[in-house]
Formats: sequence, C-alpha cells, structure tokens
Amino acid sequence: MADRFLEIANARVGGAVVKRAGLPTPPRLKRYEPGQPLVEAPVLLGAAPGGRMRPPVEDLLRGLDVDVRSRAMSGAEKPFAAIVFDASGIASTDELRELYDFFHPVARTLASNGRVLVLGTPPEDCADDVPRATAQRAIEGFTRSLGKEVKPGATVQLVYVREGAEAHAESTLRFFLSSKSAYVSGQVVRVGAPARGDAEGPDDSEHPLAGRVALVTGASRGIGAAIAATLARDGAHVIALDVPAQGAALSETANGVGGEALQLDVTAADAPAAIVDHVRERHGGVDVVVHNAGITRDKTVAGMDESQWDAVLAVNLTAPVRVSEALLAESALRPRGRIVGVSSIGGIAGNRGQTNYGASKAGVIGLVQSMAPRIAELPGTINAVAPAFIETGMTAAMPLLTREAGRRMNQTYQAGAPVDVAETIAWLAAPGTGGVNGEVVRVCGQSIIGA
Ligand SMILES: NC(=O)c1ccc[n+]([C@@H]2O[C@H](COP(=O)([O-])OP(=O)(O)OC[C@H]3O[C@@H](n4cnc5c(N)ncnc54)[C@H](O)[C@@H]3O)[C@@H](O)[C@H]2O)c1
Repeated sequence: MADRFLEIANARVGGAVVKRAGLPTPPRLKRYEPGQPLVEAPVLLGAAPGGRMRPPVEDLLRGLDVDVRSRAMSGAEKPFAAIVFDASGIASTDELRELYDFFHPVARTLASNGRVLVLGTPPEDCADDVPRATAQRAIEGFTRSLGKEVKPGATVQLVYVREGAEAHAESTLRFFLSSKSAYVSGQVVRVGAPARGDAEGPDDSEHPLAGRVALVTGASRGIGAAIAATLARDGAHVIALDVPAQGAALSETANGVGGEALQLDVTAADAPAAIVDHVRERHGGVDVVVHNAGITRDKTVAGMDESQWDAVLAVNLTAPVRVSEALLAESALRPRGRIVGVSSIGGIAGNRGQTNYGASKAGVIGLVQSMAPRIAELPGTINAVAPAFIETGMTAAMPLLTREAGRRMNQTYQAGAPVDVAETIAWLAAPGTGGVNGEVVRVCGQSIIGA
C-alpha cells in the first residue's frame, strides 16, 4: 500500500506544508541496487586506545577502495558516508569519555543516509573485570541514543566482536555499512568465531549464495516473495513454499526467481517429512531455510476463540520448530546451513489483541536461542529477524489509525519495505556470516515500540 504522506512530504509544495505544520518529513531511504559501491564518500575511522578492531576494519575498507580518514574534514568537503569507532578497548567508566571526545566534533558531519558503527567487546566476555564489562555495556545506551540524534535515514549500530573473532566480522560490517541495512538501526549484534568448518567467506560478494539451495515458506507474496527474490539475486536456487490456495501467486514468485514452487501447508502433520523428502530428492539437501509463513488472528484474550489461538501458534511457531527439528534430525540441512526465523516486534514488546501472535513470535526467539548451540555443531547458524511495521497485505488490512501510528512511530517516520527484511535475512544467510548465531535483529527503523 502506497504511503501518501511520504510522497506529499517529499514533494515541493507538500513538503513546505508539512514543515509549516511542524510534522517530521520522512526521508527517502537509499536502498541497494546491484553494483552499488559499499559507500560513496569518505569514511571516518577512529579508535579508543587498546582496541582490537581498527586494523581489520581499515584493511577491509582499503581493500574495497574506500577513502578512509582519521580526522574530520574541513567544512567545505563532502560529509562522511560512515563513521566507524572501535570502542573495544574501553576498559573503565572513565574511558567512556572516549566516545564523547570522538563523536562530539564529528557527529554533524555524517551524510544523510549515513552509517555509524561502534565496535565493542561483549560485556559477558569481560570475565571478572567489572569496570570493563560495565563500560562495554554502557556503549549500548550510547549507540541507541545516538541513533535517535542522527539525521533521519542515517543508522547507528553496535557490533560486539568476541576476542579472536576480529577477522570474521566482514560480512556483518559490510551489511551495516551498505544501503542493504536502510531500515535497520539501533541494533546490537554479537559476532563470534564461527564454528569449525564455517569460517570461509564468500568467493563472490555479488552472489554469495551461488550454488546454495534456499527454502522460503510463505513465499507467494509480501515479505516472503521479497525474500525469495533477494536470495535468488544473491545466487541461491529458491524453493518457494506456500499453501495450495496460493498456488497461482506462488508459481509467479517461483518462476520470477528461476526457482521451484512447493505447495504445502506447513501445519500439516506430515509437512516436516514432506520438506525433508523434497529437498533430499531434488537437491540432496538444503542450505538456507527461512521460516517466514505467518498469520494473525487478533482479539483480546478474553474475546479470542480457541481456534484463533491454535491457528496462530500452529503456523508461526509449532511449524518452524517441527521443520527445524526434522531438518537437523534427518541431516537434510547441509553443513554451513543457515536457518532464519521471522519473529516480530510484537514478540518483543507485545501488542493489545495479539496474545497469540506475541506468544508465537517470542517463541521464535526461543527457538533460535535454544537451537543455536546445537546447530553450531553441524556447523551452521540460526538467527531471527524481528520486523516492526512493513508495508504488506498483512498491514494494509489494519484499521487506518493503527496503520498510521505503526508507520510513523520510528526514527524514519515511515514503514519498512519487504526488501528491508529480505536484505537482513540475506546477510544472515550468507556463507560469510558464520560468526553470527542465536541473534535477533530488529528491522524496525529504530521503532519507538519495543525499543
Ligand atoms: N508485515 C509486517 O509488518 C510484519 C511485521 C512483523 C512480522 N511480520 C512477519 O513476517 C512474515 C510475513 O508477513 P507478511 O506481512 O508478508 O504476510 P502475508 O500475509 O502477506 O504473507 C504470509 C504468507 O504466509 C503464507 N502462509 C500462511 N499460512 C501458511 C501455512 N500454513 N503454510 C504455508 N504458508 C502459509 C500465506 O499464504 C502468505 O503467502 C510473517 O511471519 C509475519 O508474522 C510481518
């Protein structure tokens, strides 16, 4: 559904009216196009003393021909495309001052649609060093707040890199620096050393999923269709799955991405076995599985029929659990496999009228966190994305005022697009992302709800 306010606010006459009325103007977010360079202006790189991340980040950026600067430019020059600060060495609360000293003079030099990345050491890895753990945890509040100060359209993330994993953060840093992460901000992601055998990076960064088979559930429309298209763009052969009633739309998705359609209800008793058989017989296994199929049946718990509770739990949670368990038990997920669950802000913050949906989406986070250690042995990873308000058929069905509130209550004053969720999933599905396991990444434009 078109966002008319965004169009009006970005038009000449409409924009002036919107400004005069004191309303925020939703920026036009810059999204990824194949062949686009990682960044199109210089990147400012700084570090607190004792950090571990500056050298690998500098090598990565210079290897990509990025113009890396170590100090602010004179006023006449272009604003920075990104500001990266290695805070991994901050070891006490006094040293948090490094954040202020670095960002105070340069915060205003970030371009529209710019990127800020702060790199830290996971507080839980700081052993008994209380001052270090405290200071590292404090960085999270700094980055989340900075995300609310930068220009709308710019993003701010905190990436905690475990000691020894410095060389394995490339795929994550590239995602967050690129326009693929246009609607992801205020996030905290941990990167560890990948499990043994899961450490190789992609050979071809334009097609990191070349030679891989990806199964996407609920792929006939909305976010699922965008996931299928994005994984195919990255080189995957896509198996697009949806209910038989969606057969025509499903064929369209599958044909559009040069993949295949699998008509199946994921809640059917034999669905896990049917999926295992399909991927084994056709492809010898599967490399990427995205549990995207989902439904809502909104009612307060007092007014909800048991069928509404059961249907939502069955599609959104029990099916992903059963299918994931079967894929692992039957060794149908190949080594270096990737499972991505689609949770929701509703599973983090809760929503009135969504006790069933909230439970199912929080459960997806439970699945990811509990299965992560087991899948690492494969080796492989399981992670979740948690979208907030994304423009699809699901949100078009909302009452007008709820829809408008959902669209505007975030740092971008607009809803996300299905491709924003798809790009985040494509990063988590990539071979080079083996160091990210058991994480939940919100795709929410730094939503005020559940922040
Ligand atoms: N749109 C949003 O704002 C938003 C926000 C947070 C999370 N999500 C989640 O993203 C996912 C996709 O949402 P969407 O907005 O694209 O929804 P959508 O309704 O447009 O698409 C969902 C798809 O899942 C399929 N599906 C439903 N039940 C199925 C079953 N039993 N077996 C197989 N397929 C089934 C549907 O046929 C449909 O094609 C869902 O899990 C949803 O909960 C969406």
